[in-house]
Order: sequence, then structure tokens, then C-alpha cells
Amino acid sequence: MCGIVGYIGDKKACPILINGLLRLEYRGYDSSGIATIEGNLLSCLKDKGRVKNLYDLKGIDDLVGTVGIAHTRWATHGKPSKENSHPHLDNSNHFAVVHNGIIENYHELREFLQKEGVSFLSQTDTEVIPNLIHYYYQKDNHTDELKFLRAVNRACQDLKGSFAIEVICQDYPDSMIVVRKDSPLVIGHGNGENYISSDIPAILSFTKDFYLLNDYEFAVLTRDCVDFYDIHLNKIKKDIKNIEWDAASAEKDGFEDFMLKEIFEQPKSVRETIGSRLTKEDCNFDDLSFSKDYLNSIRHIYIVACGTAMHAGLATKPIFEKFCHIPVTVDIASEFRYRNPIIDEHTLCLYISQSGETADTIAALKLAKSKGARTLAISNVIGSSITREADYSIYTHAGPEIAVASTKAYTSQVVLLSILAIYFAEVLGKQNEELNCLKNDILELAEKVEKTLKNISDIKAFAKKVYKETDMFFLGRGSDYTVALEGSLKLKEISYIHSEAYASGELKHGPIALIENDVTVISILTDPKLVEKSISNIQEVITRGAKTLVITNQALDDKKFDSMITIPNTNPLISPILSVIPLQLLAYYISKEKGLDVDKPRNLAKSVTVE
Ligand code: AGP
Ligand code: GLU
Repeated sequence: MCGIVGYIGDKKACPILINGLLRLEYRGYDSSGIATIEGNLLSCLKDKGRVKNLYDLKGIDDLVGTVGIAHTRWATHGKPSKENSHPHLDNSNHFAVVHNGIIENYHELREFLQKEGVSFLSQTDTEVIPNLIHYYYQKDNHTDELKFLRAVNRACQDLKGSFAIEVICQDYPDSMIVVRKDSPLVIGHGNGENYISSDIPAILSFTKDFYLLNDYEFAVLTRDCVDFYDIHLNKIKKDIKNIEWDAASAEKDGFEDFMLKEIFEQPKSVRETIGSRLTKEDCNFDDLSFSKDYLNSIRHIYIVACGTAMHAGLATKPIFEKFCHIPVTVDIASEFRYRNPIIDEHTLCLYISQSGETADTIAALKLAKSKGARTLAISNVIGSSITREADYSIYTHAGPEIAVASTKAYTSQVVLLSILAIYFAEVLGKQNEELNCLKNDILELAEKVEKTLKNISDIKAFAKKVYKETDMFFLGRGSDYTVALEGSLKLKEISYIHSEAYASGELKHGPIALIENDVTVISILTDPKLVEKSISNIQEVITRGAKTLVITNQALDDKKFDSMITIPNTNPLISPILSVIPLQLLAYYISKEKGLDVDKPRNLAKSVTVE
């Protein structure tokens, strides 16, 4: 789950590579390193710690090469240490490799190479790669231009697992080879120079022209061109994709942290997600065309995802069920992929992934496809791996999300899934007045998100009051319960406070035993039909001494609670889009009060590309 960058051109590679790594740090940040080639000299510097430490490494200024590869690591095999940091070199120091992914058969390959006389300096799975490349390189008696590529290609055929790899070789000082399988990698094309990165925003300030690689496609980069080959080393042609994202939109825009910036971007991202797909008159997806017959044949919809994306599925399940009359199961991707779910051609599977690179979600999609279901990916990243695996893809268009804690991606996912449910219902011919109301309510959302964001002083004050706590509880019914789950996840991941979310009605079946004097309970109450029942549950915790924060769109008596945040009223089916905002802000301000790194919480990474 690391970040990789590469450069080949006429400028000094090192500063460009560090700049790219800093932007990819959200993918992992336990160690980092760089290798460059100058003349026929391959030099490598690496160490444990954040990317910025590279500036202080002895010898960093001497890396003057104009060809280089770099890595910011999130360890999977071997603890964070200098030896385990990437790049890894083969025993003869001919090849340097950076790798994102996991080589599942590395034990076997290591034993084989050890028998061939190779000694290993690290505990990583990655170190087998440069040594395997060297093994095949020296067995090849030819000396033609493609010898380097043949060795990389042959080695990759022995690798099981996932990899995005960059390789440089001191015998080929004017080229670089990259290949991917189940891990992300993009190629940025410039004038007399080419770039590699794990994602597009990291190199967007250098180029807007990109090549996207599919699994087992090899690219040989020189300064002026990029040649592509398939697994059999037949040359293939690739088109350049022009990416219109603005590089500045991947920066902080004056906000203290990416997370805060992204929370405040939600009016815009909600607008962009709605785009032209939903108007008062029409609901349409340019990139989708499901027939009435096909949707009528669907007996079951699965919504599969991880973490926050899965919560977006939970929030929208009722909309599909209510208007399309198709049963929906929301599942965690890592569970779905191993439990042999009942799937056939009458199943439609929706996969939600902000990054589009989450290993479990991609594997769950491949499983459903192999069982004959149609698959639809919902992602924020154009050309991401999941969108290339799915039968259909639609994009949230929320703009780059950099903070590890997902905020605007969640609200955009809920909006997009709601519109998708409306689209399905209309194709099925199930229009009715309630559906029309929902459409209007969605169209009013962006403005209401803006209003919700105006009310932050009470949230800040509550954060100040509770930031030293060690446990908190979130309660809700219906859609409010799904938001409770998301609020609780947000709090855990960035403030390190233990928290639990419960369906309000479940409280008395066990969890209420945990409520004692001064425990903080946060309740979400937005559905007028359920408010009275939920208030009774809050009363039960107040009686046992709990401190309560209530988030509501109802006119309640605020004296009953320790704190109350009022949000704009909307259709209960889409209320998560508004009620989640105070919870995002609460987690944010608690984390700030505790002086934590909001954007890069410990042990986490933005995109979980390993199992
Ligand atoms: C969200 O705050 C989390 N960091 C995490 O749960 C995330 O939503 C999950 O890993 C899924 O990521 P994806 O949407 O990129 O697939
Ligand atoms: N498996 C490699 C390592 O542990 C790469 C890790 C990753 O991609 O996150 O170093």
C-alpha cells in the first residue's frame, strides 16, 4: 500500500521524485527511498521515517541522475527499517526496484534464489524481484536492446500476488521499465520527459497527459517515448488520456488540513456528483444503459465495499428497496469474497470504492463476475483498477480526496447511489409522487450542505468538552443508524477514541450496561417517524448519567440534552448527507484538540491495496 514515483528526462530526478513522494505519503509513510542512474552508476539512498527525512540523508545532493525511481512505504513484509525500505537492489547492484503490492510466493522464490547463491539483505517480499530479474538477465546470452525487458517480463511470470513495479538497470541508463498487476500505476507523458506515479494528482503539476496500464502490460520509458508490450512481448498501442483535473485542486487551498478542506468542499462535490444526471425533468446516466427487461430480471442487488464506502451502501439500501422493489444486501468486501455468496445472472453487484484500488473490493468484484453477475463500479478515480474490471462504471466526480479519513467521497457516494436508485426505478416504470419528491430533495441538497457547514461553533465547543474521553457511543435508527456507524468510524480513525455505534433499539439488549456517569452518547435524530422512539432511548442513557449530544433536524427542546446541533430538514432517505457533516467536524476538532495528525492517522493508509 505504498506510493511509487519515477522520472526520466533531462532534469535532476531527485527533487522531482521527492515532490511526488510527498504527495503520495497518504498511501504509506513508514520509510522512503530513491535510486537514480548517472552514467552507468546506480545510486540508492533510503531510510526509515517520513519522506521529508530524505532531504537530510547524507549524499542526497549527490544524486544528480536524470533517471530515477522512488518509494514511500507502508510495510507488509518486514518491519519498517532501513534494510526493508525500497528501492531494493539485486546482489550484483545491477537492478533497482520499487514495488507496491505483495508477492505471495516470495518464500518459494527466496529459497530458489538462495540455492542459486543469492543472499538477502531484507525481510521483504520485494527483494526477490530484483534478484529474479538479474537471474534471468544473466541467463540470457543475447545483448540486444530488449534484454532488459525480457528479464523483467520473465521474472514477472514467476510472481504471484499483486505488484506495481518500477525497474532501472545500470546497463540501460537511458530507460526504465514498469509493469503492474492488481496494484495502481500511471504514466505521465511530458515533453522530452516521462513520469510514473501511483496516482494522477501526485504528478499533475508536471503533466496532464497520461497512459493507463492494464494488468501484465509492460512499459519501456525513455526520455522521448513510451513503448508498450503485452505479456508475450508483442508491441501494443495505447492512447493518451488527457486529465482535466486542476493541480491546485489537489492542494490544501488555505485550509489547515486536507480533511477540513475536503469537508468544506462538500457543497461543490455534491453539485458535481449530481451534474447533469438529475434534473427536475430527467434522470439519466450517459455511461449506463440498463433495459427494463434486464432490471426486471434482477432478483437481488449486492452492494459491496469497505469502511466508509460500505456505510454509503448501508445508507442507500432503503432507497433501492423502496423504489425498485428489489432486495438489497450490503456486504463488507473482505467477508463477501470468502463466503461463497449466492450469485447468478439474476444478481446485480454494485462495488463502491473512492480510490478504486481497494484489494478486497476488487477481488469481490472479480468473484461476482466469475459467477455470472453483472458488476457496476462506483469510484472517484477515473481509470482506477476497479473501473477497468467492472462491466459498467460510474464516477462520483468528488475531486481528489487526499485525507485518509473519507468525507466528501462518502457524501458523493450517497448522492450517486440515490440517483442510481431513481434511475433504476424510472427504467422499471415505477415513477410516483414520492420519487419525484426525492428528486427535488436531492436537487436542494448542495445548498443545505452549505447551511450545515455554517454551524461549527457548537461542534468545536463540544469537541473541547469531550476530547479527553476514552469511550463514546453513537446511536440512531434507520438511516440515522447508518450515519452513527460512519460517525463512530471517523472518530476512531482520526482521534483514536474508542467508540461504538448501536441501533438505538438494540441498546437495551446489552450495550446499555456500558452506560455510566459522564459517558458521552451522540444521537442522530432526523426521521420524524422515529424521533419519539429514539428520544425515549436517549432518555434511558440520560437516566444513567450519560452526557448527550443530539444532531437533529426536528424542533426539539435543547434543554433536555447537554448539547444539540440543528441541521436543515430533508427527506429522511437522504438525511445522511447532512447529518454526517457535524460528525465529520466533531471527529476533526477532537483530533485537533488532541494535537494529532488529522490527515495521516497512525496505522492507516488512504488506499488499501493489500488484503
Ligand atoms: C474512511 O475514512 C476510511 N479511511 C476507509 O474506511 C475507506 O473508506 C475504505 O478503506 C475504503 O476505501 P475505498 O473507498 O477507496 O475503497
Ligand atoms: N510488500 C512490500 C513491502 O512490504 C510493499 C508494501 C506495499 O505495497 O505496501 O515492502
